[in-house]
Amino acid sequence: MRILVVCLGNICRSPTAHAVLERKLAEAGFAGRVQVDSAGTGDYHIGGVPDPRACEAAAERGYDLTHLRARQVEPADFVRFDMILAADSENFADLVALAPGAAERAKVKYLLDYAGSPEQEIPDPYEEEAQAFGRVLDLVEEAADGLVEALQSGDWTTHASA
Ligand code: 4NP
Repeated sequence: MRILVVCLGNICRSPTAHAVLERKLAEAGFAGRVQVDSAGTGDYHIGGVPDPRACEAAAERGYDLTHLRARQVEPADFVRFDMILAADSENFADLVALAPGAAERAKVKYLLDYAGSPEQEIPDPYEEEAQAFGRVLDLVEEAADGLVEALQSGDWTTHASA
């Protein structure tokens, strides 16, 4: 099983989700069975390190983002990954438009499909204050817990976005 988390720049939301998912999956015993990666729909930050505000907020909860480097979504991702999880509706629409066919399009969901609330958007924190990065972590941690539970119960496919 391979999971790709996608936001716009791949320096704030998706690297945060990348690190949170990796840790929570490892804690649940999925290490080696589920692979996680992240990417951005945009090309602004290719090769760049995660935003220092995202690194700091994550470090406060014990997650390390500093080794991650931004990359852009590429066509091969739609083949390689089983689930492609968008951070917001703009990312979702861009991914659906990039997907080469119906089978690949069906892999695109919202990360927050796995969180408890009906909310689908992880707000873009890039132009916001530091507290927005804490909010990203709250949402991402909730979704990661839900995704781990879905994998444990084997029903992750039932969470497909409409
Ligand atoms: P992210 O945040 O999509 O969560 O990584 C952003 C980072 C950079 C930009 C926008 C959003 N930007 O426009 O450069």
